[in-house]
Order: sequence, then structure tokens, then C-alpha cells
Amino acid sequence: MTEQKTITAFYEQDHDRLDELFKTFQQLKRSDYPKAKDAFKEFKLGLQRHIVWEEDILFPLSEKETGIKEGGATSAMRTEHRQIGQHLDAIHQKVIDQNPDSAQEEQALLALLGSHNMKEERVLYPGIDRVTSAEVRETVFHDMKNIPEERYKLCCGQH
Ligand SMILES: [Fe+2]
Repeated sequence: MTEQKTITAFYEQDHDRLDELFKTFQQLKRSDYPKAKDAFKEFKLGLQRHIVWEEDILFPLSEKETGIKEGGATSAMRTEHRQIGQHLDAIHQKVIDQNPDSAQEEQALLALLGSHNMKEERVLYPGIDRVTSAEVRETVFHDMKNIPEERYKLCCGQH
């Protein structure tokens, strides 16, 4: 028997996991750089994967249900994803340079992620749970597993 989760529960949990990884990076970057760097790398890849899951699978589902693609909630979310990607790249550049002075870039990312994630958790995910059956959600989780790693490695700041 497979465990049936709602979209909201799964995606909220992934947001929390990513938040913890980023906190670890911030806490360790001046004391244990290799560990901080590992946490950042896992955070970055995890966040990119999360964004690809949303853009390739969740948003199209929501757009199909609402009939709104351009100018709707998902289109605003996609724009914010590009901005998140840019902040992520800015921190990544500092990490590549082994420069821990990235407080400004970190604040910019956290400020945007905070409001973005809240909108998704309060509006978008519950909306998708309301209009999908357990079978459809099963397909969503299945499709998420099948996205190749190369797809999310290339996400999300560059375009
Ligand atoms: Fe998102």
C-alpha cells in the first residue's frame, strides 16, 4: 500500500527541509566551511528540483483547472522563481569564491522565499488538493520521480 499524501503536506514538508538546509549553511559558514558548502549545495539543488516540480507538473495542473495561464497566480509564481534563481546564483557565486560575506544576498533570498512559499502553502497547494482526486495526485508524485536530474540542475536563474 502506498502512503497517500496531499500536495500541500508534501510540498510544505519540502519547504521546511530546504529551510533547515539553508539555516545549516548560515550557521556553519564561518566555522566549518566544507559542511556549510555541502548544505548549500543540497539546498540549491533541492530548491531547483522543487521549482521544476512546480513548473513542469503542478502549475500546468492548476492552469488546466482554472483555465488561466497568462497573468494568473502561476504566472506570478513563475516570475518569482526567476528572481529566486537569481538570488540563488548570487549566493552560489560567493560560495564558489569561498566568501562567507553573503548576508545581503541571503536576506534577499529569504525575504522573497518567505512570501513566495506562504502564498503557495495557503493558496496554490490547497487549491490543487481541492480539485484533484487521489489518483491524479498519485500520478503527480509518480511524474515528479521521473524528472531527470539534468532538468533541475539547469534551473532556474538562467532564463
Ligand atoms: Fe514555488
